[in-house]
Amino acid sequence: MKSKDPALESAYEVLQDAIFHYRGEPLGTVAARDPYLVAPNYEECFVRDFVPSALVFLMDGESTIVRNFLRTVLDLRDQQRVMEGHQRAPGLMPASFKVVVDGDGEERLVADFGDLAIGRVAPVDSALWWMILLRLYTLTTGDRSLVDSPPFQEGIRTTLDLYLKESFETSPAMLVPDASFMIDRRMSVYGHPLEIQALFYAALRTALDFLHPTEGNARLRKMVLKRFQTLRSYVRIYYWLDLQRLNEIHRYHAEEFGHEAVNVFNIYPESIPDWLDGWLDNDTGYFVGNLGPGRMDFRHFAFGNLLAVIFGLAAPEQAQRITTLYDRRWDDLVGHMPVKILFPAAEGKEWAFITGNDPKNVPWSYHNGGSWPALLWAFTGAALLTGRGDLAERGLQLATQRLPTDNWPEYYDGRHGGLIGRRANYYQTWSAAAYIIARRLLEDEAAFEVFRNLAFDELDPEVEAHILAS
Ligand code: GLC
Repeated sequence: MKSKDPALESAYEVLQDAIFHYRGEPLGTVAARDPYLVAPNYEECFVRDFVPSALVFLMDGESTIVRNFLRTVLDLRDQQRVMEGHQRAPGLMPASFKVVVDGDGEERLVADFGDLAIGRVAPVDSALWWMILLRLYTLTTGDRSLVDSPPFQEGIRTTLDLYLKESFETSPAMLVPDASFMIDRRMSVYGHPLEIQALFYAALRTALDFLHPTEGNARLRKMVLKRFQTLRSYVRIYYWLDLQRLNEIHRYHAEEFGHEAVNVFNIYPESIPDWLDGWLDNDTGYFVGNLGPGRMDFRHFAFGNLLAVIFGLAAPEQAQRITTLYDRRWDDLVGHMPVKILFPAAEGKEWAFITGNDPKNVPWSYHNGGSWPALLWAFTGAALLTGRGDLAERGLQLATQRLPTDNWPEYYDGRHGGLIGRRANYYQTWSAAAYIIARRLLEDEAAFEVFRNLAFDELDPEVEAHILAS
């Protein structure tokens, strides 16, 4: 525990309480410790939820739990079961796992690859987070023994085999089913959601740094580099929306055929939502939520944008505009609790259609425009990386006022995020972990250096040329 400060102390208590052990070793953190959990799997360790916990542990020099976690998640791939009679890809990593104790008192681990989760959703983000965390661990601790070991090298390769497999994509963006990442319920986030592209980008970059440059890996490394380069320019160009782009789209001609087409996705200007008129100014912009044939999802998704800033998927000027947008549209994107997961909420018939009448995702609640303290770490980090410490402070102040007294809820409801989420757990681990990170980032330079390990330097052109030539 780092301080006598009551808010920070309370957050650390939640995090410590969430730690669980396996055969005597610390292994991970459960998603929430609410005695009245809204779903049984919140007792499990989710791969994505563990990332902010891991950041705290690494900032505090407690790397054993992170090391155990990375190993275990890799090993758990062997547990993949046939799902609905269908054999799934070996590169997939679990959404979550837990320790069960057999009748004879023996502990064993049971993983969920989406074969148990509500809605049977595919955890596409897990292996990407695993790669990102592996890099963070390695850079922070200097311990290369995991990443250089044959099982980890093989783990990276198997993941790449799956994630680079050609299916029906017509673009370098990765094609995924609905609900395959943090938003793990039907929410019209199928296709090419931004958050997956940001994670994919970081995982590809990680592979370039860590996959051994052996002869056997030469072809794979070349594929990774090409995808990485095209994905970067594709997202920077086609997902980007600012005032100038919006005006271009507003005046688009449709039905263009062939190589000369400007409106390549055949976006009809009539699909621009009314709220966008006057929402952007000359200094702001963001990446749209999704892109596909005849489809630009204009909703603002916080995590994808913040991760794009942190990982450097956003070009420097874009990153600046993304955080400036938070300043100009604070009431919409933050309100009383950082950070709104997406803006705006889908309402009425649109809500019924895109969520399948999901009562947990009613307008301005949960994934449909609810506010998620778990995103505070990414918000604070992105703000600091773009020189907007003022925004980071402002967000933290709101969080400090509410989170400890409200018992660390999972999410908040309402247009302005002023209400504790109706079905939110209390003592949600990543709400507390994200708060600790935000505090540490603002107060402690050494902690900020650990976080900086998530960012990437520009790839050396010589290295790029070398990989392409090999
Ligand atoms: C919810 C969230 C998901 C998270 C899980 C555990 O399902 O949508 O992102 O991993 O809860 O906290």
